[in-house]
Amino acid sequence: MKKIPFSPPKMDKAIVDEVVATLNSGWITTGPRTKALEKEVEKLAQVPRVLCVNSCTGGLELMMRWLGIQAGDEVIVPAFTYCATANVVLHCGATPVMVDVKSDDFTIDIEAVKNAITPKTKAIVPVDLGGMPVDYSQLLSLVKSDKIKNQFQPRTDIQKQLNRIAVITDAAHSIGASYLGQPAAKQADVTVFSFHAVKNLTTAEGGAICLNLPDTFDADEIYTKLNTKTVHGQSKDALAKFGKNSWEYDVVEAGYKFNMPDVLAAIGLVEIKRYQEETLTKRKVIFDLYTQLLSKYDWAELPIYETEEKVSSYHLYLLRIKNISLEQRNAIINRIFDAGVSVNVHYKPLPELTLYKSMGYKSENYPVSLDTFQRVITLPVFYDLEKEQVERVVEVIVEAVEHYL
Ligand SMILES: Cc1ncc(COP(=O)(O)O)c(C=O)c1O
Repeated sequence: MKKIPFSPPKMDKAIVDEVVATLNSGWITTGPRTKALEKEVEKLAQVPRVLCVNSCTGGLELMMRWLGIQAGDEVIVPAFTYCATANVVLHCGATPVMVDVKSDDFTIDIEAVKNAITPKTKAIVPVDLGGMPVDYSQLLSLVKSDKIKNQFQPRTDIQKQLNRIAVITDAAHSIGASYLGQPAAKQADVTVFSFHAVKNLTTAEGGAICLNLPDTFDADEIYTKLNTKTVHGQSKDALAKFGKNSWEYDVVEAGYKFNMPDVLAAIGLVEIKRYQEETLTKRKVIFDLYTQLLSKYDWAELPIYETEEKVSSYHLYLLRIKNISLEQRNAIINRIFDAGVSVNVHYKPLPELTLYKSMGYKSENYPVSLDTFQRVITLPVFYDLEKEQVERVVEVIVEAVEHYL
């Protein structure tokens, strides 16, 4: 029987044609296609400005740097996430303060956030985990509450202008998710998507920063500042430097190299055209089918991906098995692979990783994250996954789980 992969990208003729057209156009780095993709993401996310970058990690770091996060600052992150969320905080010399997630939808626990806030807290980086939006109403009410605002101690002009803790969402999983009937990216101050190869919408590597700051900020001005930071602090990007009398530029700060090249934006332009109508629709069908097929098993704890408030982008289908040990879960996964189905695990909580363990973070402080990690199996979901393949995945999982229970 043919193996079922976990999440291969859909690289069809339309993408190949657009990439080849870019290669033949004479312009392969940041240029018209990247700018066109930014406009498409703006429409999809319904935010004032979007800046494409070379990764979600780069985008998150850029926003930490823009905010002026530095040594002595604290940034609250969930313990149940990919390392990028916390690493960007470490890059700035600040302290990631980890909190646990909720066991129903794996998003950051707002009560835990409340308890973790100190006068040193400058930002919160929640994660729309698996595509499910954070509890934004509760989180934003918290950071905007008088009590929390009164203890906020800004250290930079931008922090003074915001006058409260910033909410910068790691939305690596959640492009297209919605919150209260609107794109989820309209909630946080800034939302950063990932276009990495396994994500719902890919450019092979890439990301996009969605600016949604309060009205006291000028989105166009911030866009220009951030754009400069993506190319070494140069006063002009490559496209603006092209042509007669345009070659001269200045460097105004020690910026980064975080820009997205057009050859990758070309993939994104095709992906985004079919994203809402086709990609999300297909992913929802797969999620619904998994739920329908697995719901008859008592041992299956199924993920929540649609509620009255939130609709997921259907990125990760996180199946938990009730009452199993880590060893049993690992054995089940091996048996599933032996039967030709690729699955995955999201996530090993950050305190389980050597880096964070050595810094003193302890998994026992994040019981939901640890319990989820020990019992979770992430199922294959991708554009071309057929109904028969979903049925086969479920058949293999049932056999493997019941073998060990
Ligand atoms: C939750 C989360 N945050 C951040 C990232 C980083 O994204 P990128 O690879 O685009 O930097 C990932 C990628 O897997 C992720 O899953």
